[in-house]
Amino acid sequence: MKRRLAWLLIPLLLIGLYVWQKPTTSTASITELARPGQPDGASLSTRVIAQGDLPAEGTRSLFDHLITQNDVLPYPFEKLVKLLQDRNPEGGAPVAVLIPHGRSLLKAQADDGHPRLVMAADFESGNGASLGFSPRGQLFLGFVEKAHEIEVLSYNEAGGRFEFQLVQNYCAGCVPRIVYARRAICTTCHQGGGPIFPQRPWNETNGQEETAAAIAAARGGSTPYMHIPIKQPLASPERFDQLTDQGNFINVTQRIWLDGCGIDGNDCRRLLLKLALRYADSPGSFDAANADVARLQELQKRHFPARGIAVPESDLPNRDPIGERQGLKGWWRSLWTRDIKPGEGARDNEDLAAFDKLPRLAARFDPLTPRQPKQVLTANDVDGVYGVAALFTDADLKSLGAVSGYDIHRLEARVDALPEEVFAPRPVVRVNIMRALLAQPVGYCCLDTHEMSPPVASGVPPLKISKHVVLKEFESHCFACHRGNPAKRLNFMAGASEDEVLDNIRNKSEIRDALDWARYTGTDKASKLMPPRDSVQYQQLKAAGAAGEKSVATMRDTVPSLFGF
Ligand code: HEC
Ligand code: HEC
Repeated sequence: MKRRLAWLLIPLLLIGLYVWQKPTTSTASITELARPGQPDGASLSTRVIAQGDLPAEGTRSLFDHLITQNDVLPYPFEKLVKLLQDRNPEGGAPVAVLIPHGRSLLKAQADDGHPRLVMAADFESGNGASLGFSPRGQLFLGFVEKAHEIEVLSYNEAGGRFEFQLVQNYCAGCVPRIVYARRAICTTCHQGGGPIFPQRPWNETNGQEETAAAIAAARGGSTPYMHIPIKQPLASPERFDQLTDQGNFINVTQRIWLDGCGIDGNDCRRLLLKLALRYADSPGSFDAANADVARLQELQKRHFPARGIAVPESDLPNRDPIGERQGLKGWWRSLWTRDIKPGEGARDNEDLAAFDKLPRLAARFDPLTPRQPKQVLTANDVDGVYGVAALFTDADLKSLGAVSGYDIHRLEARVDALPEEVFAPRPVVRVNIMRALLAQPVGYCCLDTHEMSPPVASGVPPLKISKHVVLKEFESHCFACHRGNPAKRLNFMAGASEDEVLDNIRNKSEIRDALDWARYTGTDKASKLMPPRDSVQYQQLKAAGAAGEKSVATMRDTVPSLFGF
C-alpha cells in the first residue's frame, strides 16, 4: 500500500516541479521586432525630432564631437578609456563593468575570458567662459572584443535624441568604420530610445563576487581587462544604473517640453524653464503647491497627450547566470534550455537571424519583451520641471547665479524677458538656453558641425580596391585614421569610388612631407611624420623593414610634388 502511494506521489512531484519551474521562454524574435513600423507621426516630438537612422541635418552625437576633437578614434580600446578619463577634470576613470554572460545583441561573442565591457562617462566640466564637455548620463559605450565592435549610445544635444552608433571592424591594423546603426534594431531592446540596464543586485556584472571570480579564473588572474578592474565594488553597477536612468529621462523631458506643452505652448515652455531654474536653485525649498506650478498644470492640460507621456522602463530584472545553473533548479532548467555553443549567435549588429537561433531567455528576463512604462505622466505631473533642471550642470548654475547676482527672482525675470523664439516648438537645448540667459557668446565644444565630415549610415560597403592597386597601401597604413574620420580636416582619403579617393589623395600635397621619413626623422618635425609613431600602422611598417620603406616610398610617389614640374 505504502509503495503504491509512493508511486502516485512521484508524478505529482514532477508535475509540481514542472509548474514551479517550467521556464516560459520568450517568443520575441528580433528579426520581426526590428521591422520598421509606422512612426507615431501625430505627435509634435516625432515631427521635430529626427526618426531616421542618421541624425538631423547639422546635428551630431556627442561621441562624434569627442572623436572629432581628438582628431582620431583611439586604438586600442584602453586609449579610448583614457581619452574619457583625460577629459574628466577630476581625472576619474569612467564608470565601467564587465558582463561575461549578458543579454545584449552580441552576448554570444562574450564569455568569461573576454567579457563584454560597458562604460559610462560620469563627469561635467566647464566654467564661466565656456560650457564644457559634460557627458554625464549622455555617453555610453559597449565593447565586445571578439566581435571587433564598439556600440555607442550618446546624446545628440541639438537633435534632442540619443544616437545609436557602431564602431565596426575595431581591431589591430583594421580599418574601423564609425557608422550610425539601424535604429530599429537597437530599439527592440533599448525601447525608450535610450540606455537600459539591469536592476540590483546586478549578478551579471563583475560587481558581484562570483562573476568577478569566474572572469579571473578564465583570464588566469586579476590583471585588469582593457583597464577595467576584474573585481568591482557593487557601487559600480549601481552608478551605471543611475546614469542610464538619468539618460533615459532626457528623452522624457523632450517629450514633455514638446508634446506636453504643444505646438503653441511657448508660454508653457517658458514657465517650465522658470520653474526648473527655481528648482535647481534650491531643490529643498521648491514648493510644488505654488501658484506657478498650478499654472503650469493648467498650461499642460491644453495639449498633454490624452494617453499621457510614458516614462519608458529602462530597468531590466536582475538575472543571475551563475545561480541559474546551480542546485535542483539549475538541473531542472538544463532539461529545457541548451547552452550557447562557441561561435554561435550574432557576430555583428546586423546579424539578426543568427541571434534569433540562440536559446531563448525566459520572457521575463528577455530585453526584447515589451516592457510596461515605469510610469505614465499626466498634465498634473510636473516632472518636466525636474527633467529640465537636470539638463544644467553645476557650472551652468554658477554662471547663471553670477549674472543674476545670485538672486533667483532676477534670474526668473531674465527668463521672462527672453525672446519668444527661445521657446519655439523645438527640442530643448541646454546650450542655447544658457547662451540666451547669459546674453553673451559663451564657447561650447559640442554643437557646431561645420568641421565635421558627413555622418555615415551602416551598411555602406567598404571601398573595394581593384583598379588602383596603390590604394591598398593607403588602406593598410592610413585609412584607419583618414577615411571615415568625423573630423573633416583629417578625412582627406574619403570618396565613394577608387578614382575619387585617389584624386583626394593626390590633392593632399602635405602627404609628401608627412611621408618623408628620410628627411624629418630626428628633426623637430618628426612628430608630423605619418603614420604617428604610437600607432599600430607605424609599428607594422617598421616591422616590415625594407618592404615597409618601399610602401612609404610608393605612397609618397603617388602624390605629385608641387615643385616637380
Ligand atoms: C537583444 C537586445 C539588445 C539589442 C538589440 C541592443 N542592445 Fe544595447 N544593450 C542591451 C542590454 C541588455 C544592455 C545592458 C547591459 C549589457 O548587458 O550590456 C545594453 C547596453 C548597451 C550599451 C551600454 C549602455 C546601456 O544602455 O546600458 C550600449 C552603448 C548599447 N547597448 C548600444 C546598443 C546599440 C548601438 C544597439 C544597436 C546596434 C544595441 N545596443 C542593441 C541589449 C541590447
Ligand atoms: C593612427 C592614426 C593615423 C594614421 C594611421 C595615419 N594618420 Fe595621418 N594624421 C593623424 C593625426 C592624428 C593627424 C593630425 C596631426 C596634427 O594635426 O598634428 C594626422 C595628420 C596627417 C596629415 C596632415 C594633415 C594636415 O592637413 O595637416 C597628413 C598629410 C597625414 N596625416 C597623412 C597620413 C598618411 C599618408 C598616412 C598613412 C601612411 C597617415 N596619415 C596615417 C593620424 C593618423
